[in-house]
Amino acid sequence: MMGSSYDVTVIGGGPGGYKAAELLGEKGLRVALVEASEIGGTCLNMGCIPFKTYLHASRINRDAALLAGRGILDANPGRLHQAQILKEKDGIVRGLRQSVEAGLRQRGVTLYRGTAEVLGDSDSEFTVRAEGELLKSTRLIIATGSEEKRITVPDGLPYRVITSKEMLELDALPEEVDIIGAGTIGLEAASYYLDAGCRVTLVEAAERIGGHIDGEMAKALARILEKRGATILTETRLERFDADGVAYRNREGEIRRNPDTVLIAVGRRPKVDRNSVERLQLRLDGDGIWIDEMCRTSHENVYACGDVTGKLMLAHTAYRQAKVIADAICGTPCAMDYSLVPRVIYTNPEVLTIGATEEDCVRDGIPYRADALPMTYSGKYFAENGKDGAKAKIIADGEDRLIGLHVIGNGFSEFSMAAELMIANRMKIEEIGRLVFPHPTYAEIFSELTAMRR
Ligand code: NAI
Repeated sequence: MMGSSYDVTVIGGGPGGYKAAELLGEKGLRVALVEASEIGGTCLNMGCIPFKTYLHASRINRDAALLAGRGILDANPGRLHQAQILKEKDGIVRGLRQSVEAGLRQRGVTLYRGTAEVLGDSDSEFTVRAEGELLKSTRLIIATGSEEKRITVPDGLPYRVITSKEMLELDALPEEVDIIGAGTIGLEAASYYLDAGCRVTLVEAAERIGGHIDGEMAKALARILEKRGATILTETRLERFDADGVAYRNREGEIRRNPDTVLIAVGRRPKVDRNSVERLQLRLDGDGIWIDEMCRTSHENVYACGDVTGKLMLAHTAYRQAKVIADAICGTPCAMDYSLVPRVIYTNPEVLTIGATEEDCVRDGIPYRADALPMTYSGKYFAENGKDGAKAKIIADGEDRLIGLHVIGNGFSEFSMAAELMIANRMKIEEIGRLVFPHPTYAEIFSELTAMRR
């Protein structure tokens, strides 16, 4: 078997793995990157990017319908052409994938296709088998991502039961879709299907939708989606699939439904290669690989980043972790901080969450003050969206420093950097109030919120 020597072997070519490979290649290290499927991982191939392509189209469809409703456009737009969206999405994904691959080549990274297997380590050298080759390196980065939590589905059902992966491969829209799990994927899928004109029911086991988001925002988002026609069943669990339809159960008893499509979005779990973990005797943290704040595993010179660590499963967490690893390997260590990782749910309208929620403050006994306003306080937002139920909220600690910012409203994903800076710099609400917010913008809502203190 052929052998090659590298400084670093990276296993997994998603955002964590390819970013680490890029950064280390840039620094002149010899890097091997092993990917079993497509470069770009879940984010690029079947997550963030495809969803954004879909949601962009469906949002325009909804906006057009709104204008038609107000008599501004002639015709009420019809249904989206799913086959065309699929084609467009495939083209965008292919284009971005090619540019990531080109970036890796430019930085001298050697790409191996195939499933990597860690054979072990000796004399502080790791051996990884990939594509019939033995790759030797002094450092190892594990970035193998995550996979969907599955639910057992009987064969031969007269309706479709899919996950988000298959959703992104369908060439026709469902008439009626039930979505099990109202977390990030469930909500984004619900938003897409609602704006595309489908009937949508969300089934959520918890008492509210949106998981980690601030409770007030979760309620507001639920109202917005319901106003658009979604049925939301909380504290409701799947009971069974059978030939006559789907059965759910909640406090009131059994609910039977007959959608043509059921989408399962009940979470993801780290994709850990048990053999490699055992050979390296890596410590686990829940389902994921344990790492410290430098993204080091329990084995010297083995690092891990991205979803496989079971931390916040977000591409931008993986990117940041990759940078932390590259800095540690290059001798300029800087710890990972998860507390200010912004989180966006790309529903229509978007939900931005950064820092503490009210529930976090109550749980951790942090004295706080929360102020919220409807987005209609921004003239621009009102002109474009009317009274759509969107709102913004700031949370300050006992010293009146901003510790949390939560907002429902399109465009706010782009505001997350400003929010991160304000919180990271421990800005007082009064100081934020002295900033100049351009008019008319959505962000003016934060000027209005600070004015509530006077
Ligand atoms: P999630 O953890 O966000 O939500 C899963 C939801 O399913 C939870 O609300 C849970 O209570 C519910 N659930 C679990 N079992 C259930 C059952 N049997 N019946 C009914 N409800 C049940 O997971 P999701 O949405 O699958 O997303 C996976 C990961 O991908 C998340 O970590 C998410 O952050 C990430 N992601 C991030 C995106 C973004 O940043 N915009 C977009 C899509 C995914």
